[in-house]
Amino acid sequence: MQGAREESRHVFINNGLRFFLDQYPKKEVRILEIGLGTGLNAFLTFLESQHSGLGVDYHAVERYPVPPEIARQLNVAKGYSVEEAAVFSRMHEQAWNEKRRLSARFQFTKHLTKAETFRPEQSFDLIYYDAFSPGEQPELWTEEVFGNMYALLNENGMLVTYCAQGQMKRNMKAAGFRVKALKGFAAKREMTVAYRLSA
Ligand SMILES: C[S@@+](CC[C@H](N)C(=O)[O-])C[C@H]1O[C@@H](n2cnc3c(N)ncnc32)[C@H](O)[C@@H]1O
Repeated sequence: MQGAREESRHVFINNGLRFFLDQYPKKEVRILEIGLGTGLNAFLTFLESQHSGLGVDYHAVERYPVPPEIARQLNVAKGYSVEEAAVFSRMHEQAWNEKRRLSARFQFTKHLTKAETFRPEQSFDLIYYDAFSPGEQPELWTEEVFGNMYALLNENGMLVTYCAQGQMKRNMKAAGFRVKALKGFAAKREMTVAYRLSA
């Protein structure tokens, strides 16, 4: 779990959330995560909001939920305070499709649906794109899916992913994104951020 935590922090917190806020400072952001999985990214973002004072309206999409009892065994919240660990449990126990305030600054909604067809009412400042790789799930890395993601972003919004595959970047560009490579985690050469820039 330590390695996964370090990778999540590198990709989604340091090169995602913080990198985005350095360019577009805000007091509140709305984030969409594709692939809630264990809840690690959501939990690290909650901790970041606690420490930085940032207001976060966090939405996550998941098609195949991890059962809460399995999530607890993964020890994602190990080493954190009792109060912080309780927030991690509440993320998993919370009902689907309902918004909950988990702290003064952090609101959380999880959507039980397919990323490909997700059409929320809100738009987002930042998308954490954490689907399984193009080799495992090619249907989640197409021009069409990135077109949908582009439409879900606010102007000057940003998508961040651990992936750096060439075909993925071409699909992002074809969907309208401005694509930039950043240093990947540990031995990985690159990761990717992609912007919806104002015209
Ligand atoms: C790499 S894992 C995500 C890890 C997660 N972000 C975390 O912090 O633990 C990818 C996730 O995408 C989910 N998934 C697979 N197909 C999906 C789809 N079509 N729509 C939404 N989620 C999907 C999987 O069930 C899995 O939990």
